Amino acid sequence: MCGIIGYIGKKYNALNVLIKGLERLEYRGYDSAGIAFIENNNLKIIKEKGKISNLKSNIDFSVKSNLGIGHTRWATHGVANKENSHPHRVGKITIVHNGIIENYDEIKKELIKDGVSFKSETDTEVACALLNKLYSETKDINKSLNLFKQKVKGAYAMGIICDDDINTLYAIKNKSPLVVAFGEDENFIASDVPAILEFTNKYITLDDGEFVKIKSNNVICFKDDKIINKKIRTFDGTTESIEKNGYEHFMLKEIFEQPEVFKKTVSEYIENGTESLINKMPDFTKYSSIKIVACGSAMHAGYIGKSLIEEFADVPVDVEIASEFRYKKLFIDKNTLIILISQSGETADTLAAVEIAKKNNCDTLGIINVKESSIARNCDIVLYTKAGSEIAVATTKAYSAQVAMLSLIALNIANSKKLLNKNEIKEILTEIKNLPIKIQSLLDRKDEFKDIAKKIYKNNDVFFIGRNVDYSLCMEGSLKLKEISYINSQAYAAGELKHGTISLIEDGTPVISIVTNENIADKTISNIKEVKSRGANVILITTEKLNVNSDFYDEKVVVPNTHSLLQPLLTIIPLQLLSYEIAKLRDCNIDKPKNLAKSVTVE
Ligand code: F6R
Repeated sequence: MCGIIGYIGKKYNALNVLIKGLERLEYRGYDSAGIAFIENNNLKIIKEKGKISNLKSNIDFSVKSNLGIGHTRWATHGVANKENSHPHRVGKITIVHNGIIENYDEIKKELIKDGVSFKSETDTEVACALLNKLYSETKDINKSLNLFKQKVKGAYAMGIICDDDINTLYAIKNKSPLVVAFGEDENFIASDVPAILEFTNKYITLDDGEFVKIKSNNVICFKDDKIINKKIRTFDGTTESIEKNGYEHFMLKEIFEQPEVFKKTVSEYIENGTESLINKMPDFTKYSSIKIVACGSAMHAGYIGKSLIEEFADVPVDVEIASEFRYKKLFIDKNTLIILISQSGETADTLAAVEIAKKNNCDTLGIINVKESSIARNCDIVLYTKAGSEIAVATTKAYSAQVAMLSLIALNIANSKKLLNKNEIKEILTEIKNLPIKIQSLLDRKDEFKDIAKKIYKNNDVFFIGRNVDYSLCMEGSLKLKEISYINSQAYAAGELKHGTISLIEDGTPVISIVTNENIADKTISNIKEVKSRGANVILITTEKLNVNSDFYDEKVVVPNTHSLLQPLLTIIPLQLLSYEIAKLRDCNIDKPKNLAKSVTVE
């Protein structure tokens, strides 16, 4: 799971293009980074453990190069060290690779028998050695790549340089994404389009089993032995600035962007009241059920969507973890709409789910943030969230944009099925208009969350409890906290705690308790009292309307009222800011937590 980039041409120094591209791809992993480039007819490799900034500080940019490949790594095979970093070089072949070679062990054993020795523990070095062997036997890269495809199982997008042809960049793709982009007398390869957008917006995507031979003024695509023509696409977006704009961290900046993101995400659908909601969204009423498939926070957004769509639109909704959905018996058909949710649009398991849905004759709808991403390109219908570039690894604004889109879908279906009366629709539309101000009012209270963070940041265990939508919010609050602060936190349905987990509650254990639904508030409050009487330090998050006043909590955060269709978009703000402040007090790397990557492109 990594990002790759490649450049051939005279317009720019390859070293600059590679580093700029890698900086844009760093969301795919930051365990190590490296480049290989041709300088004075010789291939040079520079690689470093850790972030791209480490690599960059070791590069002499006065060196000129017309051809190079680069890589940013999220370790899969072998620890994150310099030896396991890409590019890998064996004999005359140098490659960068995104993906996993599943049968690398078998191939490695065969190569060792042939006398090949390996410097790293990676599957990529094995792939490189195999390609080198095939090339030394055939003396023909095209033939070698065709044989390589037959031997190798797994996912790969690779950029390749062969010592015998230092005016050509090769690339091959199976399952991992790869684009080839076109400039004037220069061409590029990259794992995604934004990585090269600064240079060109014209590109093709390679399909599985295809490979490409790229010169600075010519690109030839092959499928097996045949030359194929591909349609050139134009990306009409722009590259956004990836600056912190004065904020200490990208995560904080992105949390503060949420009022604007909400406006942008919903505005297209509600500008003329609910009519445009119906006109601009697909007809959901033809489906008898919905299945939401996603990973991590996107899946947590899916759980909120499930509650809202079931509650307001009377449609049964299941939520599936994409990596589970792939390998289980499914009970879906053309009457089931499959909704795929993904910020990056590149998550491998979610992408695989699209194909499975199609094989089962289901329509697929993507709720995606990154335009022209792999999942977006593969879904039948796409509703784009308008969160803009999200740089912090922990998602905040993209998650809430997904929740906003799911609220609109619930509203759309409820409206089409005439399940809401005029007054309620009017109230919801007014609340949609007011929501950015209400989100802002919570952001303005940042110091309040900092004060609570100071009281709990030293604890090593934190629990989150709530019911229904509040439980789904607990899942997201808990994930946010653990991924950036490394505190062990768990989310529980409030009523479930006493079936085992309550034994973990000790004097002072923080229990963040969410109570926003007046219909079941009493039930959750009883559960909170159960933990309070066992010594928990209760941080209650509730609404103005509920007006909870008693002695069963230690801290109280009151969020503004809104319609229940939109309430999660307010309740999430204290959870995000609390996690942020706690991670800051614990001196964690907030934007790039250890072991993580922004986009999970392996299964
Ligand atoms: C957590 C987080 C992840 C992602 C998950 C899916 O903060 O960001 O859990 O939500 O990896 O990623 P996308 O949405 O890109 O498919």
